[in-house]
Amino acid sequence: MDKVRVAVNGYGTIGRRVADAVLRQDDMELVGVTKATPDFRCLEAEEKGIRVFSVSDKSAFDVKGFSVEGNLMELLDASDVVVDCTPKNSAYIELYRRFPSLFAIFQGGEKHSLTGFSFNSNCNYSRAFGMKYARVVSCNTTALCRVLSQIDGVYGVKKVRVAIARRSVDPGEGRKDGLLNAWEPALEYPSHHAVDVKTVMPKINIVSLAGIAPMTIMHGHMMFVELMSKPGSSDEVSEMLSVNPRIRVISGDDGFSTTAQIKDYAESLNDGNTYEVCVWKDGIGIDDDGELGMHVAIDQQADVIPENVDAIRAVLGIACAEDSMAKTNSSLGIGRKLNRLVSEKRIVA
Ligand SMILES: NC(=O)c1ccc[n+]([C@@H]2O[C@H](COP(=O)([O-])OP(=O)(O)OC[C@H]3O[C@@H](n4cnc5c(N)ncnc54)[C@H](OP(=O)(O)O)[C@@H]3O)[C@@H](O)[C@H]2O)c1
Repeated sequence: MDKVRVAVNGYGTIGRRVADAVLRQDDMELVGVTKATPDFRCLEAEEKGIRVFSVSDKSAFDVKGFSVEGNLMELLDASDVVVDCTPKNSAYIELYRRFPSLFAIFQGGEKHSLTGFSFNSNCNYSRAFGMKYARVVSCNTTALCRVLSQIDGVYGVKKVRVAIARRSVDPGEGRKDGLLNAWEPALEYPSHHAVDVKTVMPKINIVSLAGIAPMTIMHGHMMFVELMSKPGSSDEVSEMLSVNPRIRVISGDDGFSTTAQIKDYAESLNDGNTYEVCVWKDGIGIDDDGELGMHVAIDQQADVIPENVDAIRAVLGIACAEDSMAKTNSSLGIGRKLNRLVSEKRIVA
């Protein structure tokens, strides 16, 4: 097959990163991205050689001197797949239906019922084949699915309880309605995250509580997992987790004592993106009943990006799960640093 022609509708926090990732795939071609507002992101796209299509009045872009290739309809007409990264409830599915051969990947802000299929590479890649419309679950749900599928495959998960501290706004959102000096619990039990995990892993027994904290850079999870069989040690658990390249086992000993250090590390190595879900090795514990506890950090802007790339291959059936994940991982530098730690002795893969 020729390269898959990909459109990104919504060049915002997630859309920009999906576009960058698509540019790094040798089996995909980025046809273009859409912008609703004529602002600096048009310049960013232009500097990267990305074609911009407008979803609003083209003349507003012309006035500001931003070059626009055409409109959304023209972009969709020239594409095999659209990755929809517009704000939740943008209701584009009806428009996409007008293009009978077009596949569409949606984001976690949308409800499961929009597509009837929620995707995670580690959990249900092969089920996506032929799905015209699929939804990549949210950043928190992606992290939970990734970690829990790894644990479930080795020890069996009896029950999960997770406490989620969510970031208030994304780093680029200077004036959005964020939280400055309080903890804002989501007043629901369980929080929607546990419900969402079940759209991908229906057999997992999970409850969650969530809230927003005054921070921007990452989400944090405190996870407690009752297991079918008890691990031999916490080292064994960290080794088991590190087998998945999309889980990075980090350590306070290495200076990763907060999410700020993880972000700082990524700034110098990977354009600020931590695609892997991070688990603190020295925060893993097992109590007398065999219950596992751990701290997890999630770069909300990045962990869903490899899943979006895989979802494109999965719905089209152009690669199996292992091949797609390996291709995505190597193109995005996922697992690269982990391998260095493995070879240096500290983690046994
Ligand atoms: N942010 C996260 O951490 C995160 C993590 C995982 C999943 N998600 C999900 O990803 C989706 C996108 O979120 P985001 O954070 O990337 O949002 P965002 O930063 O606000 O970006 C949304 C983009 O959509 C564009 N847009 C706005 N209205 C539009 C319309 N009517 N038609 C077409 N494009 C429109 C905006 O264009 P202009 O810039 O031109 O105005 C903007 O580029 C949501 O479902 C969200 O829940 C977000």
